[in-house]
Amino acid sequence: MRAIVLDRYADTPHFAERPDPTPGPAQVLVRVHATSVNPVDWKQASGDIRLYMPAKFPFVPGYDLAGEVLALGPGVTTFAVGDRLHTRLNGTAGGASAEKVLAGLDVARRIPEGMSWAEAAGLPLAGMTALQGLRDVLGIPLTSANGRVLVIGASGGVGHLAVQVARSTGAHVVGVCSARNAELVRGLGAHEVVDYGAADPYAGQAPFDWILDCVGQSPGDFVPKLTPKGRFASCMPGPAIFTWGLLHPFSGRSVKPVMLKSNAADLGVLDELVAAGKLRVVVDSRFPAAEFDKAWDRSRSGRAAGKIVVDFD
Ligand SMILES: NC(=O)c1ccc[n+]([C@@H]2O[C@H](COP(=O)([O-])OP(=O)(O)OC[C@H]3O[C@@H](n4cnc5c(N)ncnc54)[C@H](OP(=O)(O)O)[C@@H]3O)[C@@H](O)[C@H]2O)c1
Repeated sequence: MRAIVLDRYADTPHFAERPDPTPGPAQVLVRVHATSVNPVDWKQASGDIRLYMPAKFPFVPGYDLAGEVLALGPGVTTFAVGDRLHTRLNGTAGGASAEKVLAGLDVARRIPEGMSWAEAAGLPLAGMTALQGLRDVLGIPLTSANGRVLVIGASGGVGHLAVQVARSTGAHVVGVCSARNAELVRGLGAHEVVDYGAADPYAGQAPFDWILDCVGQSPGDFVPKLTPKGRFASCMPGPAIFTWGLLHPFSGRSVKPVMLKSNAADLGVLDELVAAGKLRVVVDSRFPAAEFDKAWDRSRSGRAAGKIVVDFD
């Protein structure tokens, strides 16, 4: 089978022949139909984050995939051959960008009825980040939330899913995006949109109970926009996020990082929202696997609205 590989950091991703893998216990072999790009894929391949996410070469990048079960590992009864499955491969070894991949049962779920390969590949990593950021880090109850939530980066891979999950909780959702993505973000359920390119974007906005930052903003700029007990969560945590609590021990507000913990239960929560018609994956663009590097270029541009998909059909 063929896989996309890199032989060293910053190498150009290219096809290489690899042996077909054999599933072990708690694994299934998947014929991949689509993968989705997340910024961590090319950041890891560049070597820029090798201190905490090193790559082992030859390196097959990527974490999100959707495909069909080809074979079951010993003792696996929760999936059948032919099932449509999606997952965010667990750990930090990548591995999704191949025609055949071993998926662990710890994160895999059957794809909801009616969801395409492309949409299914776009959901796991970004969706679980959005869910965990809103529910676990910000503490927003998934049902009957009563408060105002700001999603910064509301048109991006994580943000466009966060807007919808936040909306499903009952919270009042304000999405931050550029003017050209305002209609998209409103269509996803944001009650209001803030144009980050406007002269005074937050004029007239009441304080927020919760802020989910999917862009990497400075907490110093956004903590003043919180209610006295408001919470700020960053999907791109730098030193200022980790030290904020130490420097402001008596603040009623909190500033915390979002650190994805992939698991099948949370992917299941997202799948239920999809099945209920409350969550959809917006596909920004699609590339055949032979044009893999163009998919990464699109992600590196920082301009994607929704998810970038690579087709392995
Ligand atoms: N901590 C974790 O566990 C975790 C998990 C997942 C992702 N992440 C990180 O989270 C970040 C976001 O990931 P992603 O997949 O959502 O990225 P993405 O899809 O590449 O984000 C692109 C989006 O960001 C918007 N954007 C750029 N600057 C903005 C600004 N100043 N204000 C509002 N929107 C802005 C862009 O809209 P315009 O084109 O209109 O500007 C575009 O729609 C990445 O750095 C990723 O590595 C972390």
